[in-house]
Formats: sequence, structure tokens, C-alpha cells
Amino acid sequence: MRFDQRHLLGIEPLRPDEITTLLDLAERYVTLSRARDKHANALAGLTQINMFFENSTRTQSSFELAGKRLGADVMNMSMQASSIKKGETLIDTALTLNAMHPDLLVVRHPHSGAVDLLAQKVNCAVINAGDGRHEHPTQALLDALTIRRAKGRLHRLNIAICGDIAHSRVARSNLLLLHKMENRIRLVGPSTLMPSGIADFGAEVYDNMEKGLKDVDVVMMLRLQKERMDGGFIPSEREYYHRWGLDAEKLAHAKPDAIVMHPGPMNRGVEIDGTIADDINRSVIQEQVEMGVAVRMAAMDLLARNLRARPTELAV
Ligand code: NCD
Repeated sequence: MRFDQRHLLGIEPLRPDEITTLLDLAERYVTLSRARDKHANALAGLTQINMFFENSTRTQSSFELAGKRLGADVMNMSMQASSIKKGETLIDTALTLNAMHPDLLVVRHPHSGAVDLLAQKVNCAVINAGDGRHEHPTQALLDALTIRRAKGRLHRLNIAICGDIAHSRVARSNLLLLHKMENRIRLVGPSTLMPSGIADFGAEVYDNMEKGLKDVDVVMMLRLQKERMDGGFIPSEREYYHRWGLDAEKLAHAKPDAIVMHPGPMNRGVEIDGTIADDINRSVIQEQVEMGVAVRMAAMDLLARNLRARPTELAV
């Protein structure tokens, strides 16, 4: 089992066996995170800097906790308050931080491609924590781990990704990952929220929830990314909920044991009915958050092994 990446910038460059290696290691960190003593030393002596240029609750706290559980020195840069506000460019900020010798840089940025650019300028390992509408690899990996645990496998499943596909880096990374692992993917949502050229991704496209959810194993809902819209994409939130919001009636078209997912933050009553989100028999939303910490521990552990040029063979 190998993991040959220097950075984690997206799902696109990963091989299926690297995805499996990462998920298998994450399983061990699920066990560690459930224990009373949650400490391991995979990142001992290393410095991790979290740079979030966009708001985040769960992703940032999850990366912070993951680093601390593995013994890294973790620093959170508040980019709202930093020199960026004074006009310093992304590259200048990166070079300044680089001079402090971080080993792991975790970056979220509103512009697609910004994290890749930054990775070319620094000496450490860079993890993309979401760049514009491009990729959010650790979200797709935590979703994959959640699905694998709930369904017992991560291949030959029927998975519906629903809602605002066009603006969603979560949809893009999930589509890439689930496709690599040989699942059947359906994209369900209004045509105004479907990216152009989507057919090239090898997914089936539906503009009707009842048909799109028919017999699926997994229903993945997405947040309406209003901050990335400039008007005219949806008629009204009420109308959107009526046609595209997940309620019991629409969910009844999926398999009886289908799981419901949402990356958060949720707009209850817009893309999902609150009762379904809270239904512990159907919803795995809390488990997604739990898997997030474990997957980020695994990702940083594997990148750190490569940084130290230690052998990446894993005795799982
Ligand atoms: C997602 C994100 O920021 O891309 N949230 C997350 O990381 N949990 C999804 C979203 O904002 O809708």
C-alpha cells in the first residue's frame, strides 16, 4: 500500500489504491479518537499552519483537532485580520509563512486554483481545505469513509448528489472520487445549477428528485451556495424547497436503507427537512463530522511520512 503524494490539492491526482490506503489509516484514527487518550505522535515536532481566507466552522476546527491529536504544533492564522486586508498578495503571505518553516499548510481560499498556486511557492506539504468551486478533497474522503462504514463497501453503489452542483467544490471532489471507485453517480438538481459539460464526468443528470432518487443507496444533499450566485439561479427558497428540498416523500423513492448526507452548514427548510437531518436511522450527518477528524489525521500523517522521506509502506 502506497501514498505517493507530496501535497493533497485535490482528488483528481489520486489513484484508487491511494484513496483506499488513506481510508484504511483513517479507520485506525477513528478508534484512537474514540479512546480516552487520543494522542499519537505521527506529527510530533512538526508545525501545521491553518490559513483560512473563507469562513469555516467544521473544517477548520477539524484540521486543528486532527493536528493536535497527532502532536503537531498548530497555528491558526486569522486571515480576516491579517495583512491580506492591507493589500498583501497571496504569494507574499505564503512566502512570509514559508520563512517560518511550517511542515504542513492547510489552506482554504475563495478562488479556484489559489491553493495550487500557493503550493508551487512553498517548501512544505499543502492541503487544500476548499478552493472556490474547484475541489475540497478531505470532504470527499470523509464522505467516502462514512459511506464505506455505512454500506460496507465503496464500489457499485447508486449515489445521488443533489442540489447546487454548479457552485459546489464538494460535489466536484465527490464526483471524482466516487467515479474512480466505480460507483454509479446521479446528479440531481435544476438545470440552472448544473455546470456545463457535466456529461463528460460520466454521471447521469436528472432534473426531477423523484426519478433521480429512485432506488439509490446514498442521498447526498448540498447547500445552496448563495454567496457564489449573482441572482437568477432559483425562483425562491420556498419554491426550491418544494421541488428540490429533501423531505420524507421524496426520500421514500430511495432504497429503504438509503443513507442521507450533508457536508454542512445546512439550510434547514431550504435543501433539507430538519426532521430528516436529525433522524438517526437515516442521517449520517454527525458521523460525517466525526470521520472528518479521522480522515484529516490520516491525510496529514501520510503527507508527513513523505516529508520525512520515510518509507510509505503501511502495515495495516
Ligand atoms: C462545504 C464547503 O465549505 O465547501 N462545507 C464544509 O466544508 N463542511 C460546503 C458548503 O459550504 O456548503
